[in-house]
Amino acid sequence: MLWTKNLETGIPTIDDQHKELFRQIDALLAVSGSDKERQVAEALEFLDKYIVRHFGDEQKMHTQSRYPKAAEHKGYHDNYVVTFRQLKEKYNREGPTVGNNMAVNKSVVSWLKEHILVHDKDFADFYRKRA
Ligand SMILES: [Fe+2]
Repeated sequence: MLWTKNLETGIPTIDDQHKELFRQIDALLAVSGSDKERQVAEALEFLDKYIVRHFGDEQKMHTQSRYPKAAEHKGYHDNYVVTFRQLKEKYNREGPTVGNNMAVNKSVVSWLKEHILVHDKDFADFYRKRA
Protein backbone atom coordinates (compact mmCIF):
# COMPACT_ATOMS: atom_id res chain seq x y z
CA MET A 1 0.00 0.00 0.00
CA LEU A 2 1.80 3.00 -1.28
CA TRP A 3 1.99 6.20 0.70
CA THR A 4 1.84 9.09 -1.73
CA LYS A 5 2.50 12.77 -1.15
CA ASN A 6 -1.08 13.72 -2.01
CA LEU A 7 -2.26 11.85 1.11
CA GLU A 8 -0.42 14.29 3.35
CA THR A 9 -2.63 16.59 5.39
CA GLY A 10 0.25 18.79 6.57
CA ILE A 11 -0.60 18.06 10.21
CA PRO A 12 2.39 16.03 11.47
CA THR A 13 0.57 14.04 14.20
CA ILE A 14 -2.11 12.93 11.77
CA ASP A 15 0.33 12.20 8.93
CA ASP A 16 2.57 10.11 11.19
CA GLN A 17 -0.38 8.04 12.38
CA HIS A 18 -1.66 7.60 8.84
CA LYS A 19 1.77 6.37 7.73
CA GLU A 20 1.81 3.92 10.64
CA LEU A 21 -1.67 2.72 9.60
CA PHE A 22 -0.37 2.11 6.09
CA ARG A 23 2.58 0.12 7.48
CA GLN A 24 0.25 -2.02 9.57
CA ILE A 25 -2.08 -2.64 6.67
CA ASP A 26 0.93 -3.69 4.60
CA ALA A 27 1.87 -6.14 7.32
CA LEU A 28 -1.67 -7.48 7.25
CA LEU A 29 -1.71 -7.79 3.46
CA ALA A 30 1.64 -9.55 3.55
CA VAL A 31 0.26 -12.35 5.71
CA SER A 32 -3.24 -12.52 4.28
CA GLY A 33 -3.85 -14.86 1.39
CA SER A 34 -1.49 -17.33 2.98
CA ASP A 35 -2.08 -20.02 5.55
CA LYS A 36 -0.80 -17.83 8.36
CA GLU A 37 -4.21 -17.43 9.91
CA ARG A 38 -2.84 -16.78 13.38
CA GLN A 39 -0.75 -13.86 12.12
CA VAL A 40 -3.67 -12.44 10.18
CA ALA A 41 -5.83 -12.57 13.29
CA GLU A 42 -3.13 -10.79 15.29
CA ALA A 43 -2.63 -8.15 12.60
CA LEU A 44 -6.37 -7.49 12.49
CA GLU A 45 -6.51 -7.20 16.26
CA PHE A 46 -3.59 -4.77 16.33
CA LEU A 47 -5.08 -2.70 13.53
CA ASP A 48 -8.42 -2.58 15.34
CA LYS A 49 -6.80 -1.00 18.41
CA TYR A 50 -4.68 1.37 16.38
CA ILE A 51 -7.64 2.57 14.32
CA VAL A 52 -9.64 3.33 17.45
CA ARG A 53 -6.72 5.23 18.99
CA HIS A 54 -6.04 7.17 15.82
CA PHE A 55 -9.69 8.14 15.33
CA GLY A 56 -9.82 9.24 18.97
CA ASP A 57 -6.78 11.47 18.49
CA GLU A 58 -8.24 13.01 15.35
CA GLN A 59 -11.58 13.62 17.02
CA LYS A 60 -9.83 15.32 19.93
CA MET A 61 -8.24 17.75 17.48
CA HIS A 62 -11.61 18.31 15.81
CA THR A 63 -13.25 19.21 19.11
CA GLN A 64 -10.39 21.36 20.37
CA SER A 65 -10.30 23.39 17.18
CA ARG A 66 -14.12 23.60 16.98
CA TYR A 67 -14.25 21.97 13.58
CA PRO A 68 -17.83 22.47 12.31
CA LYS A 69 -17.94 19.00 10.72
CA ALA A 70 -16.71 17.20 13.86
CA ALA A 71 -19.94 15.25 14.38
CA GLU A 72 -20.20 14.27 10.72
CA HIS A 73 -16.56 13.15 10.70
CA LYS A 74 -17.04 11.12 13.88
CA GLY A 75 -19.95 9.41 12.11
CA TYR A 76 -17.60 8.23 9.33
CA HIS A 77 -15.16 6.92 11.93
CA ASP A 78 -17.86 5.11 13.89
CA ASN A 79 -19.28 3.48 10.76
CA TYR A 80 -15.84 2.37 9.74
CA VAL A 81 -15.12 0.75 13.09
CA VAL A 82 -18.37 -1.23 12.72
CA THR A 83 -17.44 -2.31 9.15
CA PHE A 84 -13.89 -3.18 10.15
CA ARG A 85 -15.05 -5.30 13.09
CA GLN A 86 -17.53 -7.18 10.92
CA LEU A 87 -14.70 -7.92 8.52
CA LYS A 88 -12.41 -8.96 11.36
CA GLU A 89 -14.99 -11.32 12.80
CA LYS A 90 -15.72 -12.83 9.39
CA TYR A 91 -12.00 -13.33 8.86
CA ASN A 92 -11.60 -14.98 12.24
CA ARG A 93 -14.53 -17.29 11.47
CA GLU A 94 -13.71 -18.21 7.88
CA GLY A 95 -10.00 -17.59 7.47
CA PRO A 96 -8.23 -16.24 4.38
CA THR A 97 -10.84 -16.96 1.72
CA VAL A 98 -10.60 -15.09 -1.59
CA GLY A 99 -13.66 -13.07 -0.61
CA ASN A 100 -12.19 -12.10 2.74
CA ASN A 101 -8.90 -11.07 1.21
CA MET A 102 -10.72 -8.94 -1.31
CA ALA A 103 -12.75 -7.39 1.47
CA VAL A 104 -9.57 -6.40 3.30
CA ASN A 105 -8.36 -4.63 0.20
CA LYS A 106 -11.64 -3.00 -0.57
CA SER A 107 -12.82 -2.02 2.90
CA VAL A 108 -9.55 -1.37 4.62
CA VAL A 109 -7.39 0.06 1.86
CA SER A 110 -9.86 1.94 -0.35
CA TRP A 111 -11.84 3.34 2.54
CA LEU A 112 -8.77 4.70 4.27
CA LYS A 113 -7.36 6.38 1.17
CA GLU A 114 -10.70 7.90 0.28
CA HIS A 115 -11.28 9.05 3.85
CA ILE A 116 -7.89 10.74 4.06
CA LEU A 117 -8.19 12.42 0.68
CA VAL A 118 -11.67 13.79 1.27
CA HIS A 119 -12.39 14.15 4.96
CA ASP A 120 -9.04 14.42 6.72
CA LYS A 121 -7.91 16.92 4.10
CA ASP A 122 -11.06 18.93 4.64
CA PHE A 123 -10.22 19.14 8.32
CA ALA A 124 -6.59 20.01 7.54
CA ASP A 125 -7.75 22.94 5.37
CA PHE A 126 -9.94 24.18 8.18
CA TYR A 127 -7.18 23.65 10.76
CA ARG A 128 -4.63 25.61 8.75
CA LYS A 129 -6.96 28.54 8.16
CA ARG A 130 -8.30 28.84 11.70
CA ALA A 131 -7.40 32.00 13.62
FE1 LIG B 1 -10.51 10.86 9.98
